[in-house]
Amino acid sequence: ASDPLVIFTPSGKRGRVTAGTSVLAAARKLGVDLDSVCGGRGICSKCQVVPGYGQFSKHGVTVADDALSEWNAVEARYDEKRGLKTGRRLGCQAQILRDVVIDVPAGSQVHRQVVRKAATQRDITLDPATRLYLVEVDEPDMHTPTGDLQRLNRALAAQWEIGPVTADLPVLQRLQPALRQGNWQVTVAVHQDHQGAPRLVDIWPGFYEGGLYGLAIDLGSTTIAAHLCDLKTGEVVASSGIMNPQIRFGEDLMSRVSYAMMNPGGDAEMTRAVRGAMDDLVTEIATEAEIEPRAIVEAVIVCNPVMHHLLLGIDPVELGQAPFALATSDSLSLAASDLDLSAMNAAARAYLLPCIAGHVGADAAAVALSEMPGQSDDLVLVVDVGTNAEILLGDRSGVLACSSPTGPAFEGAQISSGQRAAPGAIEAIRIDPETKEPRFRVIGCDLWSDEDGFAEAIATTGITGICGSGIIEAVAEMRMAGLLDASGLIGSAAQAGTERLQPEGRTQAYLIHEDADRRITVTQSDIRAIQLAKSALYAGARLLMDERGVDRVDRVVLAGAFGAHISPKHAMVIGMIPDVPLDKVTSAGNAAGTGARIALLDRSARTGIEGIVREIRKVETAIEPRFQEHFVAANAIPHATDMFPELA
Ligand code: FES
Repeated sequence: ASDPLVIFTPSGKRGRVTAGTSVLAAARKLGVDLDSVCGGRGICSKCQVVPGYGQFSKHGVTVADDALSEWNAVEARYDEKRGLKTGRRLGCQAQILRDVVIDVPAGSQVHRQVVRKAATQRDITLDPATRLYLVEVDEPDMHTPTGDLQRLNRALAAQWEIGPVTADLPVLQRLQPALRQGNWQVTVAVHQDHQGAPRLVDIWPGFYEGGLYGLAIDLGSTTIAAHLCDLKTGEVVASSGIMNPQIRFGEDLMSRVSYAMMNPGGDAEMTRAVRGAMDDLVTEIATEAEIEPRAIVEAVIVCNPVMHHLLLGIDPVELGQAPFALATSDSLSLAASDLDLSAMNAAARAYLLPCIAGHVGADAAAVALSEMPGQSDDLVLVVDVGTNAEILLGDRSGVLACSSPTGPAFEGAQISSGQRAAPGAIEAIRIDPETKEPRFRVIGCDLWSDEDGFAEAIATTGITGICGSGIIEAVAEMRMAGLLDASGLIGSAAQAGTERLQPEGRTQAYLIHEDADRRITVTQSDIRAIQLAKSALYAGARLLMDERGVDRVDRVVLAGAFGAHISPKHAMVIGMIPDVPLDKVTSAGNAAGTGARIALLDRSARTGIEGIVREIRKVETAIEPRFQEHFVAANAIPHATDMFPELA
């Protein structure tokens, strides 16, 4: 009889193998993605498969009940100890005896797809740079004196065909106790990305059953956001954010660069501040997720060029003056300890995405990785709204990028009642055009303020302030309710006929909410801050449109670390984004953070984005006179000259 035929689903890969071949070996031979951490020792259960029996007409195969070997002792012991789900077999133990169809469930694939929430977003392929391997190492012997690391390397080469690995001091310190405690069987975590040789990140005696985690960090000028991801499943297990403590040295990037220029040692002071904050964030997120910080073995960091240099401990002074030269625009793969990130694994690695140019950083690269404008059939404008807005415009024929200094107003800073997007912050608001009365929603509660049960629902958080999306809606609603003219001036109570407008100093303010603890208003200077921010954003977008030679785009993607998403209608009412049909405006959430997550979970995306970045053409806003012209014209709400027919 001929050799048995094996067909793997869902890949559809098929081939003949010698009778008696294990399913795992057959998968390797046919290039089927089947996981294994223990190398076929029946310990890790990563290799689980589901054989199908009976008629498989689609594949023209009938599978006999005895197509696979009976359970052997190893498989039986595993089942007895931990229990295999009904119908499942250990691929490393079950042998193929006759024609068979074998399904590889998602959980047994190394490169499985991580499904992102929104239907419009592409999935992420899971292929992390750090993986676990169980190895058996030879014991030392007096006659052939080699080091333990050298014997470990020999074992890794023989059992896994990887290495040789290098080991930093923290792992070397753990090496000998682990090997002896594990009776020469250890689990190692090996990091290998496209830069440099594979490295040993950690070692545990015997089979390590704990998790491996990575952090995707979006280091912004105003806020630092981190997602803790499970490197085995791709899931985000915890997210957390804090304010960037560098704010005390200057609210925007250029004031931080001047702080470094004016104060000797100022750059080092800012480096210390941001590294300390990131380390605190790591501790906080590990505590929240109830995991050992040692299990965090990697971080991917995205940030703008000034934050990039300050994090690395490089004086950002060159970024403050033309021609805005970066110390390096390449991506970086380094030891997390070089960045003083001591709360995570002592040998953890950190990867920084490449920068596009002096003003267009790794955060813009991350947005490009997440939103892929270069793969769009229609012309898409992607704006990532933060203290510095990253703006990308493009389609398959090419992508342009710039950054625009919007200031921190969109993140709720520099706003009288402003705050970071967090429970208790007003995130949405409507103003009745007749009565001029507001109703609003706060983060953490689904009810509007005029609905029954609202007061009880927010009893724990209270109403603490307005976040970025809330202030955008407030300004737009005030304009639509006639409380604000096109120049951005707030009218008086008498003109508007409402007690909600109240004098504040020599100008007027609109009262949204007042309780024993707080008075939440939108003041004239809040409106001015939003006008400056939105003019800068719009001018950047227009500059790219000029470069491209168009006066309309097909669609707009709004991204940013906003609590909820920005309402497209309100964004357009204040003239933040160019006119497009409202259904062509989508929200991508924190796209820079998503880009960081993709680079964390899929190491091939790192090579990918490095190629993409080389193709992006960047436009410098700081020295472009047309930027100033666009900026001035965009100060009016929505705009002095550009028309917004879609709003009519
Ligand atoms: Fe580990 Fe089969 S490969 S149990």
